[in-house]
Amino acid sequence: MPPRIGLVTRDPESWCSDQLLKSMMKKGIDPLWFSLPDLVAKVRVRPYVTTKDGINLIEELGAILIRPIGRGSLEEIIFRLDVLRGLERKGLLVINPPRSIEISADKYRSLMLMEEQGIKVPPTIATEDAEAAMQAFQELGGDVVIKPIFGSRGMGIGRVNDPETAWRIFHALSYTRHVLYIQKFIPHGTRDIRLFVIGDRVIASMYREADSWKTNIDRGARPVPFKPSKELEELAIKVTKTIGCKIAGVDVMESQEGYIVNEINSQPGFRGLQLVTNVNIADEIINYILENIRR
Ligand SMILES: Nc1ncnc2c1ncn2[C@@H]1O[C@H](COP(=O)(O)OP(=O)(O)O)[C@@H](O)[C@H]1O
Ligand SMILES: [Mg+2]
Repeated sequence: MPPRIGLVTRDPESWCSDQLLKSMMKKGIDPLWFSLPDLVAKVRVRPYVTTKDGINLIEELGAILIRPIGRGSLEEIIFRLDVLRGLERKGLLVINPPRSIEISADKYRSLMLMEEQGIKVPPTIATEDAEAAMQAFQELGGDVVIKPIFGSRGMGIGRVNDPETAWRIFHALSYTRHVLYIQKFIPHGTRDIRLFVIGDRVIASMYREADSWKTNIDRGARPVPFKPSKELEELAIKVTKTIGCKIAGVDVMESQEGYIVNEINSQPGFRGLQLVTNVNIADEIINYILENIRR
C-alpha cells in the first residue's frame, strides 16, 4: 500500500479537490482530507500535530498537498504556515513547501526575488506613504495598476490613470493601513499566458482570453489552448525555482518589450486549464508526490 496523502481543503467536493481525491484512489492511495483550521498542534504534549478528531498526521501520512491555504487573519495564516513548517521538519513532504507559499503570497517579495534572478517583471513601487505613492504614480507614467499586496483572483485590482482618483485611492488605502502597491500598466491586449509547472517541467499551458486587460479565469477569462516555446517553458521553470515552489501557475504577459512575468501562484486551480489539455493534471500532481514522498 502506498503511504497516505493528506489533502488540505475546505471543501473536498470542490472541483480540483475532487479530481485529486479520485486520482489518489485510482492509484490505491487512501487519502485523508482536512482543513487547516481543524488542526491541533502541541508542544511538550504528544502527538505533535493531529486533526481535531485525533488523527496523528506524522504517523498517518507520507505527504500533504495544500489546496488553498484559506483566508484568515494575519495570525491565523502565520500559525497555519508554522504548523505546516513543523510537519515538514518532522519529515513530511509538504507541497508546496510552506516557505514558497509564504513568498508567493507576497507580491512584493516574489517580484523582488525574481528581479534578483534577472527575470523581467512589471516596474513596481510599494510604500505605506500616500504622498510617496503619488510620486510613484507619476514615476510609473501616470497609468498604473493598484493591487492588494496579498491579493488573488483579480480581486481589488484597478487600473488608474487619473491623478485625482489615484490620490483618493492612496489616501483611503493608507488610512485603512494597507500597503500601497503600484505597478506600471503593461499593455498586453486582453490575454496572458498561464504555464503550469510541476517539478522541473511545464505540464500544460493556456492563453487566458478576457474581455479586458484583467485575465483571471475567476473574472470570466476563457481558457484557450496554447503551446509554449522552449524559451517560455524555461522562463516558467526558472520563476518556479526562484520562489521554491514544486507546483506553480506562472502568469506571463506578452508585451512590447517581450515576456513579462506577472506573478506566480503557489496553489493554482486547474479547472479551466484541464479543459484545454489532454494531460490529466490531477494525475500529474499525484505522480509527482508519489515520486518524492518519504519512504
Ligand atoms: N501591471 C499590469 N499591467 C497590466 N495588466 C496587469 C498588471 N498586473 C496585473 N494585470 C492583469 O490583472 C490580472 C490580475 O493581476 P495579478 O497580479 O495576477 O493579481 P491576482 O493575484 O489577483 O491574480 C492579471 O492576470 C493581468 O491580466
Ligand atoms: Mg493572477
